[in-house]
Amino acid sequence: MSETAGTHLLVDCDTGIDDSLALLYAVASSECDLVAVTCTAGNVDARQVAENTRAVLELAGRPDVEVAIGRETPLARALVTTPETHGSRGIGYAELPPATKPLSPRYGPDLIVEEARRRPGELTLVTLGPLTNVALAVLREPELPRLLRGLVIMGGSYRSPGNTAPTTEWNVNVDPESAKIVFEAFGPRQVDSRASTAEPTDSTHPTRPTALGLDVTERARMLPEHLAALAARAGCAPDGTRPDGTVNPIVRYLADALRFYMEFHSRYDGFYGAFIHDPLALATALDPTLVRTEPLTVDVELGGRLTTGETVTDWRRVWGRPPNVDVAVEADSTRFMARFIERVGDLAARR
Ligand code: BDR
Ligand code: CA
Repeated sequence: MSETAGTHLLVDCDTGIDDSLALLYAVASSECDLVAVTCTAGNVDARQVAENTRAVLELAGRPDVEVAIGRETPLARALVTTPETHGSRGIGYAELPPATKPLSPRYGPDLIVEEARRRPGELTLVTLGPLTNVALAVLREPELPRLLRGLVIMGGSYRSPGNTAPTTEWNVNVDPESAKIVFEAFGPRQVDSRASTAEPTDSTHPTRPTALGLDVTERARMLPEHLAALAARAGCAPDGTRPDGTVNPIVRYLADALRFYMEFHSRYDGFYGAFIHDPLALATALDPTLVRTEPLTVDVELGGRLTTGETVTDWRRVWGRPPNVDVAVEADSTRFMARFIERVGDLAARR
């Protein structure tokens, strides 16, 4: 994918604290045309995800963005949520007014297909949660990989430990069957066994998805000083209080949501701060130069005794299969964090 001036973005997410920061970043980015948001079960159940998503978009001043709900359970497994990471409602200690805008009547996977068909080759899909909705969309429309301009995935751990089981990352772990369907569907259409690692020349070959795993997303660390800098940009204290005693609602939201997330990371990851996985993925969908990628062959373990949900990556190309994913191997986290503070700080200043 090349850098774009003006990206039509469709977000699929499981809002979630870092998902909500990604939504704020999307709204704050002038080059982003936020087409719609589809909700999947993950950090919290899908109904709560949809409530959080609409409430955050309303907080950001974008109640007009269509929000649809998709399938409410993973394809083949029971849903497991993570209240210890994101809080029982998914937004940490934050309280938001109930969303006022109704949910879209469209079913999430249908919305993805319909919007991709409406503007072939123009839409970038970014996924911040389990891949359930995208798997269902591609099962319904096998041409989806060729209809999209690009697909950016926050999911997997390619050259690092997992965060859910020793080798698995949360989004893939929740619904590994869907992840496998998506990685296969977005890979090369035909595999010629004699062609070894050569790329297919088929002009209908889709753009390979870009995947950001924990290897790079854990470099995007929000620290208390970042929140303080963002708040200062918005003209208030880190808890959102303005000099006149009123409260900036976006900074107050960030402070309350992130306090929970930072306490979690201080218990499990050894620092008082938070990995902001999803905003980095969303920022990469808008500006691919934030990461360096390598074309690699990735498959998802479904039958492991210890490793189900692992994104098994053929670094030494022993499988001889063509690459199906551009795996992010480096991220410019300094540039990203500066941009996050600037954009979301300016959005907060306007609210
Ligand atoms: C992913 O898991 C979720 O808890 C986060 O929102 C992020 O999408 C990181 O593994
Ligand atoms: Ca997420």
